[in-house]
Amino acid sequence: MKLLKQVIEDQGVVLSDGVLKVDAFLNHGIDPELMSEIGREFAARFEEAGITKILTIESSGIAPSLMTALELKCPLVFARKQKSLTMQDNLYSADVYSFTKEKYQTISVSKDKLTKTDNVLIIDDFLANGQAALGLASIVQDAGASIAGVGIVIEKSFQPGRTLLTGAGLRVESLARIASLSENKVTFVKNEEAESHEATNC
Ligand code: G4P
Repeated sequence: MKLLKQVIEDQGVVLSDGVLKVDAFLNHGIDPELMSEIGREFAARFEEAGITKILTIESSGIAPSLMTALELKCPLVFARKQKSLTMQDNLYSADVYSFTKEKYQTISVSKDKLTKTDNVLIIDDFLANGQAALGLASIVQDAGASIAGVGIVIEKSFQPGRTLLTGAGLRVESLARIASLSENKVTFVKNEEAESHEATNC
């Protein structure tokens, strides 16, 4: 997705060989026009998939998911990282290991938010080690629902997430794939499938 790559180049900050800061538009500040474009792009990629629900995880997955849900005219559910006052039991849960935080975190979704007949699109802001997306996928499976695929805003292709997800049989659509963050610069994956999608959608 050309616009997203441009915004990453213009506003992203490479903090190290492994970490890209995108607080300007995705992780802290949120760019509504960019989110709207992202929603249109995910919707175009999954429009034939018969999505009935979008599942994401708080917090940074919510903005791109909401715009996609608007486009696909389907409901959005976000997994919580902490139980809320009103959400104590009747939950689907998964333990997700965060490599950045070096600890397990339990993520949960109320059982009434997913049904067996749902065909779920999982969306997240970053794909790094794939643990968050795998946790969401296991929640969908526990609900007996189907997974149409995984939509990722920024994929760090030099980390194992994509391989893990595709190895689990999941369709992965990433809007920007980063091959490397070394030498203090962002290098995108060349000739990625995304380019051919863009060509057909323009
Ligand atoms: P995973 O999500 O693929 O399993 O990988 P990991 O455990 O490494 O990621 C944990 C958290 O760090 C996630 O956010 C993820 O989005 C974020 N993250 C991973 N790599 C990067 C990066 O290069 N840049 C930025 N900005 N974030 C990265 P989270 O803790 O769930 O945060 P949030 O959704 O509440 O904002």
